Amino acid sequence: MKIKKAVIPAAGLGTRFLPATKAIPKEMLPLVDKPTIQYIVEEVIASGIEDVLIITGRNKGSIEEHFDRAVELEDNLEKTHKEELLEEVRKISKMINIHTVRQKDPLGLGHAVYCAKSFVGNEPFAVLLGDDVVDSKKPCLKQMIEMFEEYNSTILGVQPVAWENVNKYGIVSGEKLNDKIYTVKDLVEKPAMEKAPTNIAILGRYIITPKIFEILENTKKGVGGEIQLTDGLKDLCNIEDVFAYIFEGRRYDVGSKIGFLEATVDFALKRDDLRDSFKAYLRTINLD
Ligand code: G1P
Repeated sequence: MKIKKAVIPAAGLGTRFLPATKAIPKEMLPLVDKPTIQYIVEEVIASGIEDVLIITGRNKGSIEEHFDRAVELEDNLEKTHKEELLEEVRKISKMINIHTVRQKDPLGLGHAVYCAKSFVGNEPFAVLLGDDVVDSKKPCLKQMIEMFEEYNSTILGVQPVAWENVNKYGIVSGEKLNDKIYTVKDLVEKPAMEKAPTNIAILGRYIITPKIFEILENTKKGVGGEIQLTDGLKDLCNIEDVFAYIFEGRRYDVGSKIGFLEATVDFALKRDDLRDSFKAYLRTINLD
């Protein structure tokens, strides 16, 4: 079955980035000059998906604005002959069919995904978390879709993380099928380092079968008093095959300040229009 729909949960409060996120959604903070959520939407498009549902919440209106037409701005850019910018601005609103639904209460990622139930219907679908931006030759989601086409069941995008960081992630354990794929036997959300079964972490990319909705409907609050997607997936792996796929690429946790800074520097250095002058500046910095 083809993956046609993607869900991007974006209802979080962004407390790690206060005060910047008091009035601006964290998903709109730019890496160089593009909001982080646009990198995610571009990955979705580059992976061949046509419909995206963004789960929003209060104060997230600017995300919808961003992917909509901006008629006055376009008129102005046209009149002032700023063709390149005009093209860039128009491109965003033409990108893809963006739908939104509001998560009315911040009850956790599992609940946010459950809000996508009627949009998704009875098909497998992709979930991409906005805090995880992946830079890779082949788009991370595309790699996952290829795995799905091979295994026809839920696929979790994972990579090993430093053991001292396992308490920040959903951690999987299971049997290694080959260098890149595990059959998942168990999952645990944000375990303490001493209790973590492995250091293989889910890094914000999922392809999930619709069975998850029946499960999430009854999933109880877990770590942090939130309904956790990881807990739902743990139940799912007792009913259906769940695989963990070690994707290729550099993943940035742009929800953390350090990850955001790393991505900003690396992405600026990849830009033809900035590389030389930015490098020249970086060379002047005394790091001691
Ligand atoms: C969420 C998930 C977690 C996953 C992580 C990836 O946690 O609950 O399982 O490993 O994203 O970034 P959050 O970072 O929202 O606390």
